[in-house]
Order: sequence, then structure tokens, then C-alpha cells
Amino acid sequence: MRLNHLSLTNFRLFSRLDMDLPSQILLLEGNNAQGKTSLLEAIFFLATFTSLHASHDRQLINFLASQESLAVARLTASFATQERESRLEIRLIQELNGNGGSRLRKEVLLNGAKISPNQAVGAFKAVMFLPEMTRIIEGGPEERRRYLNLAIAQSNRNYTQTLADYNQTVSQRNALLKQLFERGGDEKQLDFWDQVLATKGALLMQARIQAIEEIGEIAIRIHSALTDSKEVLRLYYQPAYDPVVQPQNQFSLPMQTKVERGQFTLEQLQTGFTARLAQLHREEILRGVTTIGPHRDEMRIHCNGIDLTDFGSRGQIRTALLSLKLAEIEWLKQKTGEMPVLLLDETLAELDEARRESLLTYLTSAEQAVLTTTDMNLFPTNFSGKCERWWVDQGNIHKKDS
Ligand SMILES: Nc1ncnc2c1ncn2[C@@H]1O[C@H](COP(=O)(O)OP(=O)(O)O)[C@@H](O)[C@H]1O
Ligand SMILES: [Mg+2]
Repeated sequence: MRLNHLSLTNFRLFSRLDMDLPSQILLLEGNNAQGKTSLLEAIFFLATFTSLHASHDRQLINFLASQESLAVARLTASFATQERESRLEIRLIQELNGNGGSRLRKEVLLNGAKISPNQAVGAFKAVMFLPEMTRIIEGGPEERRRYLNLAIAQSNRNYTQTLADYNQTVSQRNALLKQLFERGGDEKQLDFWDQVLATKGALLMQARIQAIEEIGEIAIRIHSALTDSKEVLRLYYQPAYDPVVQPQNQFSLPMQTKVERGQFTLEQLQTGFTARLAQLHREEILRGVTTIGPHRDEMRIHCNGIDLTDFGSRGQIRTALLSLKLAEIEWLKQKTGEMPVLLLDETLAELDEARRESLLTYLTSAEQAVLTTTDMNLFPTNFSGKCERWWVDQGNIHKKDS
């Protein structure tokens, strides 16, 4: 995967940007608040249609432009896969809605044809490294679900749409649960939503079971290499509806036991999930929320038998995270036959000498990588000599003269 050209209009501080990107490694240097992170954010947005920095897409539209009654932020990319060259255009359109507010909609064109944003995820592929990414391990389960979702979405064309449908179903089902609690009514009304939830949920679970298994296998290998075979890294899926746990006797396996969830068919996951939902009707009406299902899934990350989220040291967590991200890249490559574009925002400062070395060596094998830094001293000259060095200055980007 190679990003050849990028144009931005009214995206963050870039009122207008046009750039041809070099293949291999591009090093973006600049002081703080010049637009380095925003540029990586734009490239990542082209792959995932989401930002890891903004809580709402509105924040991506240039401040000044967004004062107008109609504001459009536009991202356009030409990229090449093994097979062909494609053009992707995303428009974030903010317009007045008549009652004093405004609404935002997304339009996406892939090779000139309109396509739903959910279908366009992963047409272009990228993996992002951020300093604050240790959240994946240190943070709550939603951080690990997001890691998984973003990886799977880029390799499975239907995943994003299924996830959106599933989340919408959870909201609708929750609304009905609250209504049944407040106004009473026939519990049977839930059956329809249980069916939809289980159909979509089973698809998500099946994708997650497989992804965790496969990414986990790659991560063990990478982590072993990064730690001179001293540490064994393992990923464990803990689905909120678990097909291997019997609801009646609450039989639960110790985490270290290898559980073969991959053996369950889609239909088994679906019927098991539906049955469990039915058992929970009473309780869920009282609580007003759907208590099981992929929206509450968890993935635990263990190192030498220790749960890193609860007991990992800073150093251990950083190394495990590096293994996890490198495994994500390798996995995407295996699944799709394409090496994603690698985006690294000020990542080196976080790593010790040895890991930095490993990461930089890895990058030289990438098809294309874009790195940002405020501090060139982090890069050994034998590495920076292999990079194209560009300067970012108040939303302008130009090649360094030297
Ligand atoms: N929607 C926006 N419109 C205009 N400027 C923005 C917008 N969002 C962020 N900025 C500005 O862009 C700059 C941040 O750029 P950033 O990409 O984080 O810089 P860097 O990574 O080089 O430190 C900040 O000065 C911020 O105020
Ligand atoms: Mg930055």
C-alpha cells in the first residue's frame, strides 16, 4: 500500500495542502503545533474514517471555515495497491439544519463513485502509533475493543457496517428495556431485538475470535524476539456473552486454559446468544441496559502469566504494545496481501534504545512509513540518511533543502 498524493482542504489547520509523498520513509520535522499530528490524523482517517484525536468529526473541520453556514472539509488521496491505483475522496459537510443548529454528513467517493463510508473503510490501509497508545493496555476494555475493531475493520469489508448495525440495535433494545420498566408491557417484544442483536453480534464475535487467535500467534513470536525470548505474550478473548460458559452453573475456565472458541459455528454463537438474552429479560428490564454482547467484550493481555493491565510495569507495557502493533501490521499484511502505510507520531521518545533500534530496523522493511518528530536527535544518522526529510511549519510542508 502506498499513498502517492494527498490533498486537504479545510482539514484542521490546513486550509489547503497538496503533497506528493515519497515511497519508503518520510520524516516530518517541526516545532510543536505546526500540523504534524494533524497530517497523520488525516492519513489515518482515509483508512478508518475515524480520528484517534477528535471526539467528533466536526473538530476536523477548519475553525474558520466552520463559521460559515456551509463548511466542507475535503480529504483526497491517490494510493496504489499491488493491483491498481485508486482515488479516495472524503467530504465532511457541515450545514445549517434550520433550527439554529448544524448537522454533519460524510460523503465518500471511491474512484469517482459514491460509496457508503462504512463500506469504504480499509480500501486504503494504515496503522497508527501514538505515544498515548499505552492506553490500549492500561486503559479500560473500550480501548482494547477499539484496537481490535480498527484492526479488523481494515481486513474485513463488512465489519464496520455490522458493528454500526449492532450498536444501533443495542440502543434500540435499551430504549425498549427502559420503556418496559417504566410502562410495563409484553416482554415478548424483546424477542425481535434479541434476534437482530444475536445475528449481528455473532458476526462480530466470530471475527474477534479469529482475529485474537491470529494476532495473538504473531504477537507471541514478535514479543519473544523483542525480549530475547524472556517473555511470553498472550492475548485472551473474554466475550461478555461466552459460548463456553454454561449459564446455569456459571462454569468458568481459568484464563490460562486454552479455550477453543473457534470451533463454534456462526449459528451456534447466534442461538446460544439469543437463548442467554432470553434468560436475562427480567434482570435487564430492571437495569434498563443490555448487559451481554460484543459491546462489553474484553481482551486481556498477559506476559509470563501476569495480566499487564493490572500488574504490568511501564517498560513491560511499552514493549508489549510495540509487539501488539507490529503484530497488527503483520496480520493485516497476511489477511489482505497489502502492507499498510505506517504512521508514527512522536513514538520514538517513548522507547528505550533497544526497542527504538528494533522499530527503526522494522520500518526500513515497510513499503511506506511517515514519522513525525520535534527532535532529530532521536534518530541515528544511519537511519535518517535513509529517510526523506520534510519540514512542517504552520500548516505548510516542504522538503528540507539540506
Ligand atoms: N479544526 C481546526 N482548525 C484550525 N486549526 C486547528 C484545528 N484543530 C486543531 N488546530 C490547530 O492545529 C495546531 C495543532 O497541530 P498539530 O497537528 O497537533 O501540531 P503538531 O503535531 O505539529 O504539534 C494547533 O495549533 C491547533 O490549535
Ligand atoms: Mg503532534
